[in-house]
Amino acid sequence: MVFIHIPKPWQLPEFKVSHEAAFYNRRRFLKGVVGVGIASTVLPLTSCDRSTRQTTDPLQGVIPLRAPQNPNFTDAGRPLTNELFAATYNNFYEFGSSKNIWPAAQSLPTNPWTVEVSGLVKNPKTYDLDDLMQFPLEERIYRFRCVEAWAMVVPWLGFPMRLMLEAAEPLSTAKFVRFTSFYDRDITTGPSFPPSQFLPWPYTEGLRVDEMANDLAFFAIGAYGHTLPKQHGAPIRMVVPWKYGFKGAKSVVKIEFVDAQPATYWNTISANEYKFESNVEPDVPHPRWSQASERLVGPGGNPYAWEEVPSRLYNGYGEFVADLYDRAAV
Ligand code: MTE
Repeated sequence: MVFIHIPKPWQLPEFKVSHEAAFYNRRRFLKGVVGVGIASTVLPLTSCDRSTRQTTDPLQGVIPLRAPQNPNFTDAGRPLTNELFAATYNNFYEFGSSKNIWPAAQSLPTNPWTVEVSGLVKNPKTYDLDDLMQFPLEERIYRFRCVEAWAMVVPWLGFPMRLMLEAAEPLSTAKFVRFTSFYDRDITTGPSFPPSQFLPWPYTEGLRVDEMANDLAFFAIGAYGHTLPKQHGAPIRMVVPWKYGFKGAKSVVKIEFVDAQPATYWNTISANEYKFESNVEPDVPHPRWSQASERLVGPGGNPYAWEEVPSRLYNGYGEFVADLYDRAAV
């Protein structure tokens, strides 16, 4: 029996229904791309990248970036996800609701870029790209778990969020942090939904201050040995590996310390499905699918194969984060 599911535009697509066809189309496409050869284009940092050009290179515009590996995160216990797969299977709704948004995402203007840190802090500051590069960069290989139940392993380059938090010196009244992604109606044209459809752009996410202070919480400015491709959320994105992937806002432009839990994009759309906390909890099903297992890409050295494996509480990072929460680690 063929089951065709047409999700409402604001629903995250359920992976079991939507992903097979998307995956095989992409696989065919990738074979074609690989056939003509892929080379990453290195552009100078000062280049103007306000381009709407679509090319055959998903890694266009990236610049080599090296940083020492953090010894605590060199082995995720799973194979590293094939880079080309990770760069062409994305969620970035500002550029469309399919996984194949990487060509559209090339219109994201990432240089110049600023990140404003403000709100209930002693030291508000606006960082530019050079300032971000001053943080001590490191590489961390993290497991990555989407709420749609697919999973990857990515070698991120960046710095712990707590370094930015410490520089800001939050006031005692700051309890939460709101992160805002880039949004410009002329550029982020992906969501071509009916005008009547309410979507709470810009994309926002939030953490408790103590979650942001946890050593695992990371700002990535690169991956796989170079700066982030735009579709991964260049030039800076959140990586919060014990939570579902939607908690990691891409292309962050603003970080505000606030006293109350902020409204966030998916939680505003469907609070029942996308909770503010959204830790990976295998025993707490999404209302439309189970979270007990996940589809891991790349098992057995095959970059395009998927394997169903059990999900782990806090995505296996309980030793770092369990004490932030009430429930006992399993
Ligand atoms: N950030 C923004 N601004 N817009 C988005 O649509 N999608 C989220 C998250 N961050 C999203 C976002 C979701 S649902 C996931 S799973 C991850 O980005 C996907 O990250 P990746 O495409 O780099 O793997």
